[in-house]
Amino acid sequence: MKLSTKHLLGIKDLQTEDIETILSTAQQFKDVLQRPVKKVPSLRDVTILNLFYENSTRTRISFELAEKRLSADTINFTVSGSSAAKGETLLDTVNNILSMKVDMVVMRHSASGAPHFLAKHIPAAIVNAGDGINEHPTQALLDAFSMKEKFGKLQGLKVAIIGDIMHSRVALSDIYLLTKMGAEIVVAGPPTLIPKYITEALGVRVEYNVKRALQWCDVANVLRIQLERQNQPLFSSLREYNLAYGINRRLLESLGKEITIMHPGPINRGVELDSDVADGPYSIILNQVENGVAVRMAVLYLLANREN
Ligand code: CP
Repeated sequence: MKLSTKHLLGIKDLQTEDIETILSTAQQFKDVLQRPVKKVPSLRDVTILNLFYENSTRTRISFELAEKRLSADTINFTVSGSSAAKGETLLDTVNNILSMKVDMVVMRHSASGAPHFLAKHIPAAIVNAGDGINEHPTQALLDAFSMKEKFGKLQGLKVAIIGDIMHSRVALSDIYLLTKMGAEIVVAGPPTLIPKYITEALGVRVEYNVKRALQWCDVANVLRIQLERQNQPLFSSLREYNLAYGINRRLLESLGKEITIMHPGPINRGVELDSDVADGPYSIILNQVENGVAVRMAVLYLLANREN
């Protein structure tokens, strides 16, 4: 099985067959990760640069673990402590590191389109680990994997994506992926956090009443309020956001049905999600994190395999 693309820059231009290939390969790697010996020699001669210009806990550790499980050599770059802090450009930084014989680049950057720019200028395969407010393709893949694992299918699944849609790269990648795979999507939250380009043209329905979205869905993917990307206030206060749009156990119990709760992390506890839900019986948040390793192993393995 080979991917039709050299890079994983986003879900928007990924073919449905590529998504199916990644998800089925991830299932094989998940099986490997249940064994006492979790390491395979698949990428033994491959060197991967983890290039993180923006903070990360889950994605950075998950990629590094995936690389180690595949026996790849890894290099970790963070801005702090690097010559980027002295003004070195992205392209100079990457070309200098590539000259040391690096094969693939996993990249997170606060600028939307940064990995697409890099892909035009360097020969190495690039995996987008989140670019600004554009896309976070491996998060969408692990979200889809986790939904499929829970429900056995994506076709016809009713997914509510709730919260700060405007600043979320996860929202866009989830929308692209889930609509390609036949899921139904409602996007919910305050009008000020749902951008005007989120319309039926993207295959989604917009709902401003969170309770109505929850009553409709099988699974709610709750997104973080990204205060660090807001130049001006887009709602009155975090307390009022929690009262109007936050998800708590009382709200879920009032639905008269069970729904699955997801969140890409990090969680603002007591804002978009209360702890009794985040840590409750219907949450699969830590399953998402676990599945991220297998999904990233699949992406790296398939891209490296395509190169050979
Ligand atoms: N979900 C996610 O991207 O988390 P991090 O920012 O911690 O990598």
